[in-house]
Amino acid sequence: MTARPPYRVIQWATGAVGNEVLAATLDRPDLELVGVRVYSADKDGADAGTLIGRAPVGVTATTDVAAIIALDADCVIYTPRIVDLEDVCALLASGKNVVTTAFLFHPDRMPAADRDRLLGACRQGASSVHGSGINPGNLSGALPLALSGMCRTIERITLQERADWSVYDSTAITFDNMCFGRPVDEISPTATDFLAFNSGIFTEQVWLLADALHAGIDEVTATVEAVAAVEDHQIFDHLLRAGTTAGQRWNWAGRRDGRPLVEIETLWTVGNEYPSHWPTPQHGWTLTIEGDPSMRTHFISLASFSRTATMAEHVNAANIATGMQILNAVPAVCEAPPGFATTATLPLIRSARGFGN
Ligand SMILES: NC(=O)c1ccc[n+]([C@@H]2O[C@H](COP(=O)([O-])OP(=O)(O)OC[C@H]3O[C@@H](n4cnc5c(N)ncnc54)[C@H](OP(=O)(O)O)[C@@H]3O)[C@@H](O)[C@H]2O)c1
Repeated sequence: MTARPPYRVIQWATGAVGNEVLAATLDRPDLELVGVRVYSADKDGADAGTLIGRAPVGVTATTDVAAIIALDADCVIYTPRIVDLEDVCALLASGKNVVTTAFLFHPDRMPAADRDRLLGACRQGASSVHGSGINPGNLSGALPLALSGMCRTIERITLQERADWSVYDSTAITFDNMCFGRPVDEISPTATDFLAFNSGIFTEQVWLLADALHAGIDEVTATVEAVAAVEDHQIFDHLLRAGTTAGQRWNWAGRRDGRPLVEIETLWTVGNEYPSHWPTPQHGWTLTIEGDPSMRTHFISLASFSRTATMAEHVNAANIATGMQILNAVPAVCEAPPGFATTATLPLIRSARGFGN
């Protein structure tokens, strides 16, 4: 739905990413917060400012989905832990654009029934929807596409993400959703709805690059190797027991005639035991383009490279980066034609505030 600033926005879920988006929204003169959807009963009725430790701003958070859908708004920043397609379709059908970190990284390649439902809702509401973040999102979409501008030809693209999740305080995602701490033989790309969902979003991201760069792949394969912890580890409120899953090496490979052309690999651990047979890129993200010319870049985000920061602040840098990638996309998505807006179709998303001058 085409709109002009100030864009009226709704924050949907106030977790690690959502809170960062909420704070940044309140600091942006071109955005006006008009609603906040929360899940936790103890946040229902709270002021949006109070929720993030600031002075009240006069916008009350609610668990009432119908009340949120009835609001007049240009865009919803949708950052819940688990996606509800019905909610997203209702938002789009009501004429609100949606930006999200949770899914829709390349909707053309999502299951057809879900894709058609979403498109129908976009048509009904003349609205657009965009999924992005850090990965999936910028590092597995915008960055390789930007670097590809320096390539004559490309033979293979690989993005490796190496991370230890011990310091990531969204433990519901680590243990309940991603199944760390479960028996290793319970980990597979189809073991649970969430693992299948998660594998699906990275599969989509591989398709995005392959489609945008004419790779002509015929499939994306998904595999995972789960590795057991040698010792017990206390991770915030959660005890990860020796013998249960402490490492997950996922690989999504876009293949033509069986040959991998576009790959995303994750080297994820909890408890900091690193399997000796895994590759050892630096922590963070390593993007390699084999081509003419070949290039490699390593990415990390920290709270600062110059001032002292706590580990919690450094860890939170990735939440900020994830949230800003979609918050900064709000104007472009509000101006996009109805339907899907992706990293490959939107203009380059840059910091809206930048230096703030
Ligand atoms: N693309 C990327 O690069 C990237 C990176 C990081 C995260 N993500 C995704 O971004 C989303 C937010 O991540 P996060 O770290 O902020 O997550 P989080 O802190 O674990 O949770 C987000 C919020 O989800 C709400 N929630 C609680 N129960 C829920 C349920 N049953 N169904 C749906 N939502 C529920 C809660 O909202 P209230 O507290 O308001 O009640 C919670 O604070 C997730 O989908 C995550 O997978 C994407």
